[in-house]
Amino acid sequence: MDIAPDLPLVMVDPRLFHHCLINLIENAVRHGGEEGAITLSAKRRPEGLDLMVLDEGPGLPPGMEFRVFEVFTRVEGSDRKGGTGLGLAIVKGFARAMGIAVSATNRTDHPGARFTLRFSESQLRKISPE
Ligand SMILES: Nc1ncnc2c1ncn2[C@@H]1O[C@H](COP(=O)(O)OP(=O)(O)OP(=O)(O)O)[C@@H](O)[C@H]1O
Ligand SMILES: [Mg+2]
Repeated sequence: MDIAPDLPLVMVDPRLFHHCLINLIENAVRHGGEEGAITLSAKRRPEGLDLMVLDEGPGLPPGMEFRVFEVFTRVEGSDRKGGTGLGLAIVKGFARAMGIAVSATNRTDHPGARFTLRFSESQLRKISPE
């Protein structure tokens, strides 16, 4: 976990958001290599907040960054890992319903994939002092 304690709260539908996180973490476990850390990282941006799930696996082949969110899309070789190719389509649909942008890229600091849920400023709530 790489999450600063003083970050603002986010406004989400808890049930949909739970599904989004479960799918991204499950993918990191299933597709992110046999070994290596899975990191949940939250970073404040000038206009919002990013929540990222990072792994240390093979990452995504070039050109698949958008396609992986389409239904039934699996990268070649993933068919042996038991998935149906629906998880990321669900993540995208639920994120859209909550007004959250979701994207996939490869990490720049390390081999591996990085999935980002991006909140805008209007979705953040400051924690009010007691
Ligand atoms: N963290 C990741 N690293 C590398 N490839 C990934 C990662 N997450 C997803 N993928 C690729 O994207 C494809 C689509 O992911 P998606 O979650 O939609 O389906 P799935 O995991 O195969 O099946 P399920 O419906 O059970 O989630 C995967 O089959 C895999 O090829
Ligand atoms: Mg999946």
